[in-house]
Amino acid sequence: MEFPPFEHLRFYEGVHDVRLNISYSNIKGFTLGEFHKTLPKDLDLNWTDERGPPELRRLIARHAQVAMDHVLVTTGATEANFLANVALVQPRDRVVVDTPNYSPLRDCAVGLGADVVPVVRDCHDGWSLDLDRFRKTAGGRAKLLVFANLNNPTSVPLGRNDLQELADIAQECDGYVLVDETFRELAFHHPPPSVAEFGPRMIALSTVTKVGGLGALRVGWIVAHPRLLERFKAVKDYTTVCGSSVSQLLATWALQRWSLFRRRAKIILDGNRKLVEEALTKLPALRGEVPKSGSVMFPHSDIRVPKLAQRLLRVYKTIIAEGRFFGVDDHFRIGLGGDPGEFRQGLRNLEKAMQELA
Ligand SMILES: Cc1ncc(COP(=O)(O)O)c(C=O)c1O
Repeated sequence: MEFPPFEHLRFYEGVHDVRLNISYSNIKGFTLGEFHKTLPKDLDLNWTDERGPPELRRLIARHAQVAMDHVLVTTGATEANFLANVALVQPRDRVVVDTPNYSPLRDCAVGLGADVVPVVRDCHDGWSLDLDRFRKTAGGRAKLLVFANLNNPTSVPLGRNDLQELADIAQECDGYVLVDETFRELAFHHPPPSVAEFGPRMIALSTVTKVGGLGALRVGWIVAHPRLLERFKAVKDYTTVCGSSVSQLLATWALQRWSLFRRRAKIILDGNRKLVEEALTKLPALRGEVPKSGSVMFPHSDIRVPKLAQRLLRVYKTIIAEGRFFGVDDHFRIGLGGDPGEFRQGLRNLEKAMQELA
């Protein structure tokens, strides 16, 4: 078993101290003090439910409009993705991955020895999904079809018809559809439906990390049929057994006031979207619309992206995420969820660096 290096994560580890990072996909970080609550003295630090504390599962279930036995709490969406892959994917199984995409959604199956086939979307037709090509690539035998909804890095949604057809393809293949729904709620006006609505072959992952700015809690979940969850739980018995009771309590607090987190996210994203729309008028070497939903965008750059990223880092101490991390070299990711002052400064730096390299 050999997992490909998670290049994007390694890159971030090396530049964590750089002040201006306009590439992150999360909403501005949230702090403990902002909850205005204190941890209960009797919080059990010895045991917590292996499936996740009942109150947390109840909130997730209510949110996802499923019964509680359809929810398994995990250590982030990262563990959720790992559990589903380990439980379902065998060496040489075919796994079809929507591309561009967040790399662990592809590389986890690579690490397990699967035959992983990317289906690459084209920016020239608005990154639209070609389901016929997907069906052909699945070839009636794909074990897993993998997506993010909204997509990371393009923020393009999968709609109801797409999800229904994917359920049909999974049925034809006797396989499953895994959809990472980390960013789904950031389509504020028309959130796409959860894949969990489309039957027992469908697996939804999510997390408090991005919408909440709560990444260090490491709390995520899987919503799927209880029979599948049993298989995922059997893998979790060998990874983390259960989550941290402190983190899970904080995640419970967050989900109890989730509408507040969503409002906070919307205010930040609306403001930053305007800033980037303005900036794009001064950046002729960039092509690509600012998506109406989501926290990330993925413009094409006429300037070579590694050169641009290097200059931004070296001269302007500003980080963008190169498209190579997502499988498309001539684009880069901008994150729209950060502190507005820093985002404005980061965009100014991007403008200067692009002018200098034009
Ligand atoms: C699509 C997607 N899923 C999952 C994650 C990570 O989630 P977590 O922090 O809950 O492990 C990310 C982080 O960038 C992501 O973009």
